[in-house]
Amino acid sequence: MNSVIISYSYTGNNNALAESVARELSVKHINISVQKPITMGSILMDMIFARTPKVQLDPDIMQQYDLIIFCAPIWMGQVASPLRAYLNYLKTSPKAYGFISISGGADGANPKLDSELRKRTGTQSIILLDQHKADLLPTNPKPTRKDTSAYRIGREDTKRLTSTVIEEIKKII
Ligand SMILES: Cc1cc2nc3c(=O)[nH]c(=O)nc-3n(C[C@H](O)[C@H](O)[C@H](O)COP(=O)(O)O)c2cc1C
Repeated sequence: MNSVIISYSYTGNNNALAESVARELSVKHINISVQKPITMGSILMDMIFARTPKVQLDPDIMQQYDLIIFCAPIWMGQVASPLRAYLNYLKTSPKAYGFISISGGADGANPKLDSELRKRTGTQSIILLDQHKADLLPTNPKPTRKDTSAYRIGREDTKRLTSTVIEEIKKII
């Protein structure tokens, strides 16, 4: 399957993961380019008022691939808003897609991702993998949101997370 990885990252973790997965699979990695800078304020507004930030989306590039693997953080239980325009695009031009993330996980799983992806794209994702920073941190005391937000994945973490992602992707392609 001719695949591409499309990522968005606010603090760098998901781009590090996307870059590493793309290198491992020898596939193209595209970084989502937003038209206005994302701030903590704009994130909260997007999530509360269901806004879709403007991004540069090239339909010609999307058409070149059989499988699109998105990689982005989870915000307030949802896929990060800069991905919305891409997910909406898939509703009009359906294509196999997957979603991977390194999220915080301080409050446990993010159970609404599957239904959100289906709602936005109109189809089921063929890969859905949400890995948590909380699982990379010492368990006693239990990591808080503050701990997981401050944590940046290092080289060893990236290697470990990448191999889990590759295992999942290899079941499909
Ligand atoms: C506003 C905001 C809301 C968040 N909400 C969640 C959440 O609901 N679930 C979760 O697991 N992580 C949540 N996180 C944590 C991020 O998903 C996590 O820190 C992620 O690794 C950041 O990725 P990035 O470095 O690629 O931007 C939230 C972070 C922010 C800034």
